[in-house]
Amino acid sequence: MKKKIALLTGGTGQDGSYLIEFLLSKKYEVHNIVRRSSVFTTSRIDKIINNKKYDYYGHYGDLFDSSSLNRLIRTIKPTEIYNLGAQSHVAVSFKIPEYTSEVNAIGTLRILDALIETNTNCKFYQASTSELFSGFKSTVPQNEKTPMEPRSPYSISKLYAYWITKNYREAYGLFASNGILFNHESPRRGGTFVTKKIVREVANIYHGQNKILKLGNLNSVRDWGYAKEYVEAMWLILQQKKPDDFVVATGKGTTVREFVELAFNYIGIEIKWSGKGINEKGYDKKSNKLLVQVDKKYFRPTEVEFLIGDYKKINKKTGWKPKTNIKKLVKIMMDYEVKQIVKI
Ligand code: NAP
Ligand code: GDD
Repeated sequence: MKKKIALLTGGTGQDGSYLIEFLLSKKYEVHNIVRRSSVFTTSRIDKIINNKKYDYYGHYGDLFDSSSLNRLIRTIKPTEIYNLGAQSHVAVSFKIPEYTSEVNAIGTLRILDALIETNTNCKFYQASTSELFSGFKSTVPQNEKTPMEPRSPYSISKLYAYWITKNYREAYGLFASNGILFNHESPRRGGTFVTKKIVREVANIYHGQNKILKLGNLNSVRDWGYAKEYVEAMWLILQQKKPDDFVVATGKGTTVREFVELAFNYIGIEIKWSGKGINEKGYDKKSNKLLVQVDKKYFRPTEVEFLIGDYKKINKKTGWKPKTNIKKLVKIMMDYEVKQIVKI
């Protein structure tokens, strides 16, 4: 049987780290494109890198750099490419829109074009996102047919990537698919995303630090799943007979406010809310201590308010379904965070 060779971008990130572990467990040879940085960025995959038993290879490269992408594709001859690399932070994309577009949109084009230029017969997975949708309440639940109306430089760059993936599929017959993934979290989530920020601060409070959790929009609804399960969906998308686009989600929505309540419940605190909008505050119901406050610094110029996905299509085609509900996800993240802080 022909050896399966995977090439990833974004393998140092949350999803990439789980995907590398998953692919290695399926006996793939795994190649990861790592961008150069002045500090080490591989902490999520160090266990893999430092153990020679794994069929893992790291390569310098960058979504900005066509020549490295071309060279790596030509020499590695992957059978599957997972393009997870991105400037993935929505709020940050308003500060660095040009950079975000270069990496997320043109970076995707660079890989697709390299596949054509090098005449490589390889399946391609694009990390698309629920941010492609407007998030207006009337569009919930969103599925593959929901109109796309992106509302940030990040999601507009991802809309280009989504369409260029479809275009290369239609124009050149490439096996190129989009996974339209709703938010997914884990202990490995980057520290500036809201779930990780919440669990980290709540764990600090649990350990006696005198902190106030400062957040932006508490009313935002997200469909939060467990990242470890979502990487299997990425792989399944590339194992289909035909390339196609799939929503991956849990089908359940939770507000940021409810996520905060669940994280505090884990440490035995019930939050009592008071005030509205920018003046809303969260207190410990027992002691009346101020624990949560709204800071307008964390609001976005345009917000995507309601994201809840309909995962029927992927379930029907592949059998994939989510296994971790929001309570279990908060517990997984809090269990990890509480232990981390003790260690320091
Ligand atoms: P993440 O933790 O922020 O990881 C992003 C990865 O992209 C990192 O490995 C990063 O490298 C790499 N990267 C950034 N700029 C690059 C460049 N110029 N060239 C090559 N690599 C670059 O993101 P994630 O949560 O794992 O998400 C993975 C992908 O899925 C992203 O494309 C994201 O937009 C998309 N997505 C995520 C979610 C979610 O809820 N997590 C939902 C839908 C879609 P460094 O380690 O060097 O920074
Ligand atoms: N980051 C952050 N920080 N978000 C906050 C905060 C805060 O202090 N307070 C409230 N929020 C709200 C945001 O306004 C947003 O509505 C929601 O919490 C989730 O924000 P993030 O965790 O930053 O994630 P995101 O939904 O913007 O983007 C993530 O999911 C997308 C899929 O829908 C990222 O992983 C994207 O890469 C991904 O495409």
